[in-house]
Amino acid sequence: MTAPVSFALARGSALVTGASSGIGQAVAVAIAAAGAAVACVSRGTFDGGETLAAIDAVGGHGVAITADVRDPEAMAAAVARAEAELGPLAYAVNNAGIGAGGAALNLSRAEWERVYATNVTGVFLSAQAEARVMIPRGFGAIVTIGSISGHIANRGLRQAVYNSSKAAVAHLTRSLAAEWAPHGIRVNCVSPGYTLTPMNRRPEVADEVERFADETPMKRLADPMEIAGPVVFLLSDAASFCTGADLLVDGGFTCW
Ligand SMILES: NC(=O)c1ccc[n+]([C@@H]2O[C@H](COP(=O)([O-])OP(=O)(O)OC[C@H]3O[C@@H](n4cnc5c(N)ncnc54)[C@H](O)[C@@H]3O)[C@@H](O)[C@H]2O)c1
Repeated sequence: MTAPVSFALARGSALVTGASSGIGQAVAVAIAAAGAAVACVSRGTFDGGETLAAIDAVGGHGVAITADVRDPEAMAAAVARAEAELGPLAYAVNNAGIGAGGAALNLSRAEWERVYATNVTGVFLSAQAEARVMIPRGFGAIVTIGSISGHIANRGLRQAVYNSSKAAVAHLTRSLAAEWAPHGIRVNCVSPGYTLTPMNRRPEVADEVERFADETPMKRLADPMEIAGPVVFLLSDAASFCTGADLLVDGGFTCW
């Protein structure tokens, strides 16, 4: 019999984009708890704050790195710094993304390109920088963060630009999975349903959030840590035959 499956992340260090809040923060903490040191990447003036404290609390190790996923040189530098501080990169989660809406008829080209720059180009540039160090070593596991909005057009929301950007993430994932499988790199997507991140905790969206919960068979939103579990699974050797998958983690939202 072969060895039992392992959910541990013991093959090297990890990098998570958009780790300063919400899903990315939970993913960084869950990865640390599963055994890998984590480079927590975010834009702006990110100093690691809450994320590094939470990693500490689970007995893990992390560093904060500032980089904008839209900038290929910044992402290459982030990967280089992650490897210099934490050792060879084995795992990466390309989570940084922005929500956006607006009626399609009035949407400006600038707004369309702003959303795609982070949600699609940023995911591609992150994966490219990561794969460039993983491929020479013949091992890597990458997870992208899509959305239910890449599968369905959210009832009552006008957000063609966001929805199509997230569909692009899922197909980019399949394309990279096929291209990099011969090099030992697995690439999978996790597509969350409505999740209780700061975006959905604002008092002004309380009514909308109640409707999101009602439209979900499980009648609630996800806690960010409930998205992190499936991400850790797909990174781990327990998912060694999974590549190009798009795992819906949505409390059943897309069932009906
Ligand atoms: N919250 C939800 O209900 C939900 C549902 C489905 C999918 N998602 C997706 O999950 C991901 C995380 O969402 P969240 O709700 O945790 O959002 P959030 O706003 O709490 O976190 C987004 C993170 O991405 C970072 N970021 C944004 N643009 C960046 C850039 N250009 N470069 C580097 N970092 C950047 C932010 O600084 C932050 O750390 C996004 O891709 C989002 O589309 C969220």
